[in-house]
Amino acid sequence: METYIFFLGSNPQLSAAEVWGVLTAGELEPKVIGLTGQRMEVELNQEPGTELLNRLGGTDRVARVIKKTNKVWPVQDLAEIISTGTSAPKFVVGISQYGDVFENIKKIAVDIKKILRSKGVKMRFVLPGGKDTRLNAAQVIFNKLHQPPNKELSVIKTAANEYVLAETIFVQDIAAYAKRDTSRPARDARVGMLPPKLAQILINLALPEINPEQSVLDPFCGMGTILQEGWLMGARMFGSDISETMIEASRNNLLWLSTNFPEVNDLLLPELFVQDMRQPFRSVRQKLFDAVVTEGYLGNPISSPLSKRELNEVSESIIGLYQDALKNILPILKNGGYLVFCLPAWRSSRRGYSFTVLSPTLLDFAGKLGYSQEHLLPDALAGLFQANSRGTMIYARPDALVGREIIKLRKV
Ligand SMILES: C[S@@+](CC[C@H](N)C(=O)[O-])C[C@H]1O[C@@H](n2cnc3c(N)ncnc32)[C@H](O)[C@@H]1O
Repeated sequence: METYIFFLGSNPQLSAAEVWGVLTAGELEPKVIGLTGQRMEVELNQEPGTELLNRLGGTDRVARVIKKTNKVWPVQDLAEIISTGTSAPKFVVGISQYGDVFENIKKIAVDIKKILRSKGVKMRFVLPGGKDTRLNAAQVIFNKLHQPPNKELSVIKTAANEYVLAETIFVQDIAAYAKRDTSRPARDARVGMLPPKLAQILINLALPEINPEQSVLDPFCGMGTILQEGWLMGARMFGSDISETMIEASRNNLLWLSTNFPEVNDLLLPELFVQDMRQPFRSVRQKLFDAVVTEGYLGNPISSPLSKRELNEVSESIIGLYQDALKNILPILKNGGYLVFCLPAWRSSRRGYSFTVLSPTLLDFAGKLGYSQEHLLPDALAGLFQANSRGTMIYARPDALVGREIIKLRKV
């Protein structure tokens, strides 16, 4: 058993739910050791592979714990840890610091270098710039700190005054995400494209273990973000939309993906078709889907918070649409299959933290149809996070007036 630290992204609660779902679905026998704000510490029976870690949209780095002590390590110990197992003539080491571990990291680096030089070991340090205490992903990737013989060491002081030393084993490929987000040929800010990382999270929540036989439908596929991410993650993807133009946009984006991320070509190109979710499905070649994952219509784009009257109007039309969609999804979803989808959550004021969500009518309606709602926060994490009473989670960029409320339903 070894302990790993998952460094969680911008929505730690959602990220933790994703990590937990994916880890428990495999054979890693995870046990939560601790969870503090941005970090989740988990014991695993073996090191998780890159393929699994690459799937996690909400985890930006993963590190293996090397040492946990109740006092900070002398430089000699650090020098030894850094040079252990390295016979390379030259290598690079980065240090990221969380909490007050070292007062003067630059001096520590100079001292370590001196000790190692006296032993004939040549190495170079990369340290965070300016006021930063953590190396950014670009620095880790550029210097290949996550790959031997190089190292990124994270030094952490916990709230319980423990000192943790950990070595990075994985870092999110920020350039690949940026490319998939902004370089696709068909883009339209007004349609409100989903960030690829959130698309991954939604897919993982619905299908924590993925194989190419499993089919996933996005019935409001828009420009195809969920289709592209699911395809990369190894699922058989299907997409539909009411709009022919959107289907064409998805098609262009998926063809672009197959050229720019050729690894997807091991699997069939996602299938696309036009379908109004207010109507029952007519012709779907794949009759039953293992999961349905979607970010549907969230209302028209807005430039200021909505008044009560406006909220009522838009809520009514959205509830109507999703009632029809829930009804029409039911016959094409396998028994026991999950439906993960987003509803709008309107920020109450421009810089506020509170949101207005749709009335519970829709969730009650889903229950009557034959879905059971699953709490997004797994029981194992329930004591560690303050759960919301609806069992959902809200994902919103800090400056966004409309966030996404994520809901997980199971066909019973
Ligand atoms: C917010 S966009 C989805 C964006 C998508 N997640 C992406 O990343 O590109 C909502 C989509 O729902 C589609 N839509 C709206 N009403 C629909 C309906 N009744 N049936 C099917 N699709 C619908 C729109 O055409 C639009 O493409």
